Amino acid sequence: MAIEQIKIGFDNFSYVIYCPIYKQAAIVDPSLDATRTLQFIASKKLTLEYILITHHHRDHSSDSKRIKSLFPQAKLVASEADGKKLALKQDIVVSDGSQLKIGKILLDFLVTPGHTPGGICITVDNEALLTGDTLFIGDCGRTDLPGGNLAHMYASLHEKIMHLPDELVVYPGHDYGEKPFDSLGNQKRTNKTLKAKTLQEFSKIP
Ligand SMILES: [Fe+2]
Repeated sequence: MAIEQIKIGFDNFSYVIYCPIYKQAAIVDPSLDATRTLQFIASKKLTLEYILITHHHRDHSSDSKRIKSLFPQAKLVASEADGKKLALKQDIVVSDGSQLKIGKILLDFLVTPGHTPGGICITVDNEALLTGDTLFIGDCGRTDLPGGNLAHMYASLHEKIMHLPDELVVYPGHDYGEKPFDSLGNQKRTNKTLKAKTLQEFSKIP
């Protein structure tokens, strides 16, 4: 299993998950400009199997259309709720417990509403956790945009993310933290949004 983290624009992160054995790949969140992401895929001679969209916001999804036109065989993957808001119809709808494979790599999907109604997180071979705008290093995604919901975010973080293994490496959708990625265990100990013990406490975090 291999993951390439690619910074796009001011602070977005796009990712390439790829199987070095089978040379298959997925892009997670093409963002506004996938040029460098596509260059990485070409440099490694990978076949693009999937375009995974953590949530529908344009800064994560907007270059999907160009990628689809270049690689029509690549399948666009999103949740039902957020897929409806994409410019392109998704090819695969994922929900809690959905799985996909990229070569030998296993992807597990979790639906984590709060930032958007159908945001998703993806675990990769039980080693990495791509969190989109659900969880950042040191914070969580905002809940005050259209479709956001603070109670749903609290539930996603505390009923789903907190139950995942400490060893996972968290790869967020933005470079907002003091480092670009971190172990989930360290985030459980230090991230104020994961340390909050109740919804009321969570709601008071500035
Ligand atoms: Fe977002």
